[in-house]
Amino acid sequence: MMRLDKFIANNGYGSRKEVHKLIRQNSVSVNGEIADKPSVHIDIKKDKVCVNGEEVLYTEFVYLMMNKPPGFVSATFDKFDRTVLEIVSEEDKILGPYPIGRLDKDTVGLLIISNDGDMCHRVLSPKRHVEKKYFVRVDGCLNDSFIGIFNDGVVLEDGVKCKSAKLKILKVHNDGSECELILTEGKFHQIKRMFETFGFLVTYLKRIEFGGLKLDESLKEGEYRHLTVEEINLLKMV
Ligand code: URA
Repeated sequence: MMRLDKFIANNGYGSRKEVHKLIRQNSVSVNGEIADKPSVHIDIKKDKVCVNGEEVLYTEFVYLMMNKPPGFVSATFDKFDRTVLEIVSEEDKILGPYPIGRLDKDTVGLLIISNDGDMCHRVLSPKRHVEKKYFVRVDGCLNDSFIGIFNDGVVLEDGVKCKSAKLKILKVHNDGSECELILTEGKFHQIKRMFETFGFLVTYLKRIEFGGLKLDESLKEGEYRHLTVEEINLLKMV
């Protein structure tokens, strides 16, 4: 059983607020009857829900976009730390979603949480070179020579060479710099280790894009929402 507004929102019809508007406009029906209460509970496998005459099909997949807060690990279970799944409501966990890829405990920003295994496999496959864009603050002064070094592939302290990365310097001041960095791979602590090779410490790291999908900046850290149909399609096109 699930609330009607939740069920419709889960299936890509926008936020709960937008769904309430659809209900007020008499655009929603349950088993042929116009629905007037967003809070009514429906049986997601049996009841027939329509929006503007079009059936909302029960989906086996759930796709969430979270603005990950600091202090949470990207896992479904952890012995010591709080996990991002603890932020997700029981209702949104019914279908067993998990984080798609990892952000470090202190990293914030765009994290996709889903149970779509095929999509997960595709977007994380090293063969697909899916772009991930980060906003980064470091404690050192960047200059244009770094752009070429990142483009050529930074060699980490253990000798491993990273793939070409696009660096855009946004701001340089006396005690640090701000930049954007696009990676197509995801080695352990990669960005921190890349900057470490220059003796720089990453003081703030936020993922802002993942394979064409942008972080919804209206989400505060620790908030999440369902992806829209367009956003789900963006991920499926990867
Ligand atoms: N690089 C890092 O060092 N940490 C992250 O969380 C993501 C990329």
